Amino acid sequence: MSLKRASLTFLSSLLVVSIATQFIVPSQPCLKYLTDLSSIITSSPIISTVIKYYLGDHPHDHHHHHHKKAKDSICDSFPPDFPPPDTNTTSIFCVDQSGCCNFTTVQSAVDAVGNFSQKRTIIWINSGIYFEKVMVPRTKPNITFQGQGLGSTAIVWNDTANSSHGTFYSGSVQVFSNNFIAKNISFMNVAPMPSPGDVGAQAVAIRIAGDQAAFWGCGFFGAQDTLHDDRGRHYFRDCFIQGSIDFIFGDGRSLYENCQLISIASPVPVGQKSIDGAVTAHGRASKDENTGFSFVNCSIGGTGRIWLGRAWRPFSRVVFAYTTMTDIITPEGWNDFNDVTRDQTIFYGEYMCSGAGANMTLRAPYVQRLNDSQASPFLNSSYIDGDQWLQPFL
Ligand SMILES: *[C@@H]1O[C@H](CO)[C@@H](O)[C@H](O)[C@H]1NC(C)=O
Ligand SMILES: *[C@@H]1O[C@H](CO)[C@@H](O)[C@H](O)[C@H]1NC(C)=O
Ligand SMILES: *[C@@H]1O[C@H](CO)[C@@H](O)[C@H](O)[C@H]1NC(C)=O
Ligand SMILES: *[C@@H]1O[C@H](CO)[C@@H](O)[C@H](O)[C@H]1NC(C)=O
Ligand SMILES: *[C@@H]1O[C@H](CO)[C@@H](O)[C@H](O)[C@H]1NC(C)=O
Ligand SMILES: *[C@@H]1O[C@H](CO)[C@@H](O)[C@H](O)[C@H]1NC(C)=O
Ligand SMILES: *[C@@H]1O[C@H](CO)[C@@H](O)[C@H](O)[C@H]1NC(C)=O
Ligand SMILES: *[C@@H]1O[C@H](CO)[C@@H](O)[C@H](O)[C@H]1NC(C)=O
Ligand SMILES: *[C@@H]1O[C@H](CO)[C@@H](O)[C@H](O)[C@H]1NC(C)=O
Ligand SMILES: *[C@@H]1O[C@H](CO)[C@@H](O)[C@H](O)[C@H]1NC(C)=O
Ligand SMILES: *[C@@H]1O[C@H](CO)[C@@H](O)[C@H](O)[C@H]1NC(C)=O
Repeated sequence: MSLKRASLTFLSSLLVVSIATQFIVPSQPCLKYLTDLSSIITSSPIISTVIKYYLGDHPHDHHHHHHKKAKDSICDSFPPDFPPPDTNTTSIFCVDQSGCCNFTTVQSAVDAVGNFSQKRTIIWINSGIYFEKVMVPRTKPNITFQGQGLGSTAIVWNDTANSSHGTFYSGSVQVFSNNFIAKNISFMNVAPMPSPGDVGAQAVAIRIAGDQAAFWGCGFFGAQDTLHDDRGRHYFRDCFIQGSIDFIFGDGRSLYENCQLISIASPVPVGQKSIDGAVTAHGRASKDENTGFSFVNCSIGGTGRIWLGRAWRPFSRVVFAYTTMTDIITPEGWNDFNDVTRDQTIFYGEYMCSGAGANMTLRAPYVQRLNDSQASPFLNSSYIDGDQWLQPFL
């Protein structure tokens, strides 16, 4: 898909709230598009109208009368009596940038959730690109972010390791609470893509530091360090995850099912051997930690020449099962962080994968071809104790 088509697809999904149910699979150029967004806003009259109308307010544009009129026509497409009243188990808060319901920013809705509420609060977020850095504190468990599709609702910011005093704080969204759920929404970091050798350019789209989090139909967009799967038990299903270097990293115990993992590392010219990215950098530090990433029925594609994982910490643990891989995966497959002592302690396994990148003939010696019994603990939600907490998608 060309850059232009991708941008128009994303924008058109913002144009009409009523088509928000349309499912749009974004392609790699979305990141580039959003990176360029601020210059596009100022240079294109057509897009600046769209932005003004749908993506937020410019205070100096406020002729009250016009604003009100625009509001009424947008809000007419809201279902009547939305959001519905609280039930014993659930509250619904509504976020809409045009001011059609309770809140205009995601953070203001999070702020209004009671501390340590045992009820689930569903934060329903209308279509739009929400330019804000969002933090869900530890004191607010049981929050759901419900978007309108990963091509329609996005939370976007552009902090980097440099601008936020470290990679760990660069997330556009940071979740510290337990029992967080997100459905049909994208998380993006649109800081400039790092060039080779850049320092401090890591830019996280989301950090997930709470236990028992689930993501359904979500998008994660960034380059280096997109998805900080920091700690806790996490579930990802039908997600789209884009990045370049270590784009899924952290010390979580996580199951990824049916996800698309897309590399935007620079294409490597034919004949060159260089490697310019890695899907994972799992951070298990000791044998006592029950953590690791498991990918089941996923697909890996995109550009560059990349590793499946590199051993950020000595006991790094990652399994790929039933996953298709294109030839962007380098034949040795994995990297021990240039520390051969880690070869004894890392756990990198592959099981029933397919595609040109899954050829294990030239794999690094420490990589395991898992047999059925070795693979089985990683293949379903029991791996993350799902029976204790994972709800079916409703
Ligand atoms: C999420 O999006 C998918 C695909 O568009 C749709 O089938 C599903 O109904 C949506 N679910 C929710 C809860 O938004
Ligand atoms: C909700 O709580 C009220 C008051 O405690 C109770 O009367 C009612 O039966 C509850 N409803 C449900 C559906 O549990
Ligand atoms: C959200 O708006 C609805 C409808 O106006 C209202 O009943 C509800 O109390 C509001 N919720 C919050 C948290 O402000
Ligand atoms: C939650 O607790 C924080 C800090 O203790 C406090 O500032 C905030 O007002 C509380 N929020 C609500 C909605 O009660
Ligand atoms: C709310 O969160 C608490 C603490 O994480 C958890 O024990 C509880 O089961 C959650 N409740 C719901 C309704 O998800
Ligand atoms: C984020 O974008 C804003 C607006 O374009 C820019 O001023 C700021 O420098 C950017 N931050 C980083 C860390 O790139
Ligand atoms: C981050 O900061 C360091 C030290 O100030 C600087 O050398 C580096 O170029 C910065 N990186 C980026 C991507 O701006
Ligand atoms: C595997 O993933 C594909 C694409 O995401 C999906 O269509 C298919 O149903 C999945 N298979 C299983 C067994 O879940
Ligand atoms: C796997 O790779 C080896 C070494 O490059 C090659 O000889 C073999 O033909 C490949 N197998 C398949 C099925 O492509
Ligand atoms: C699987 O591999 C393990 C470790 O090498 C071995 O102990 C076990 O017997 C094998 N199981 C099967 C069914 O081959
Ligand atoms: C997951 O697989 C294991 C091993 O095959 C099995 O014992 C367990 O019942 C399965 N759990 C679920 C939730 O299907």
